[in-house]
Amino acid sequence: MAALKPTIAVIGVGIIALVIFLHSNSNQIMQQIKQVKALEVAVKREENVVKEMIKMIPDTGNTALGKPGEASPQQEFDRLWDYVYTMQYNCTHGEYIGGKPSNGDGAYWLCSEPRFWPKGSDPNYKCLMYSFGVGGDFSFDDEIARRGCEVHSFDPTENLQDGLVRESGVIFHKWGISHEDNDHDSHGWKMRTLPTLIKELGHNGRYLDYLKMDTESYEEGLMQQVIDHDLAKCVRHYAQEIHLMGPITRPDRLKKCRHLFSAMGELNNQGWRLYNTTDNCRWTTVPDPHARQVQAKGQIVNSETTILWETMFVNFDVKGPCKVE
Ligand SMILES: *[C@@H]1O[C@H](CO)[C@@H](O)[C@H](O)[C@H]1NC(C)=O
Ligand SMILES: *[C@@H]1O[C@H](CO)[C@@H](O)[C@H](O)[C@H]1NC(C)=O
Repeated sequence: MAALKPTIAVIGVGIIALVIFLHSNSNQIMQQIKQVKALEVAVKREENVVKEMIKMIPDTGNTALGKPGEASPQQEFDRLWDYVYTMQYNCTHGEYIGGKPSNGDGAYWLCSEPRFWPKGSDPNYKCLMYSFGVGGDFSFDDEIARRGCEVHSFDPTENLQDGLVRESGVIFHKWGISHEDNDHDSHGWKMRTLPTLIKELGHNGRYLDYLKMDTESYEEGLMQQVIDHDLAKCVRHYAQEIHLMGPITRPDRLKKCRHLFSAMGELNNQGWRLYNTTDNCRWTTVPDPHARQVQAKGQIVNSETTILWETMFVNFDVKGPCKVE
């Protein structure tokens, strides 16, 4: 009997320790399950966003494109590549403006021939520019504002006060461009379509002398809005950074590649002409202003490579001011 008592005590302590051990472990497991669930919800949300965006891509009747799904990823990429390197106009009076002093990232062309830049010859002309995506660099926008143009810069990710007016005159809006209006999207950002912006800012009846787009990958969506709302006729300059991501064999990326090509083709039909493309290899970890996208050309179809181009257009067929319902 005397020998049994300590044994029972030891077993007792052992059981208590085991219970405590299991309890604290189960807490950890519960937390991990919660994290996995939250991740699942986030992934679902992202999937839905992508699905919605893919739905918006129209099947164009453009025969040069081939029927949707007809061209291979390689062919889709090749024709986009050829497109961006084939200039459609030589601008005779151009200025390359802005950009970070360190590497030139953020510089764009202004084709200041009078037909594309009335402000140059008419100081009373009411010039207007929208710039989407600031990314910490107002240099181009500031320069255009200093030339007397009314400039609105939009970026919901920028840590600045909505409505801030810069010394140059640039008006900053903490809003983003999107395919739908939303006061509070999944990031908590205020998002607007282009027609809504024109309406809300009171710019109905004005021309868009410069439309500039450098957000993370919505350039084809903006071009589509311009097409769908008959706004190509009131834009004089369009500059965009194209964010092309590989592998192009991935269905969503193939769609984007095809959509970019078809949207630019449609805008060509409406009078827009490509007059400059620059390779943007300046954002990489080892920025090299002389790097060329040709280094990524052979890889992007099948691997996770990114190609960035700045492409600039002028419009030969400005028909009238912007009108939205
Ligand atoms: C632009 O100028 C270059 C060189 O002068 C010429 O080769 C090219 O054909 C011109 N392009 C257009 C679209 O006029
Ligand atoms: C486009 O702009 C860049 C930067 O100024 C310049 O180096 C290049 O020659 C231009 N390309 C054409 C086709 O004008």
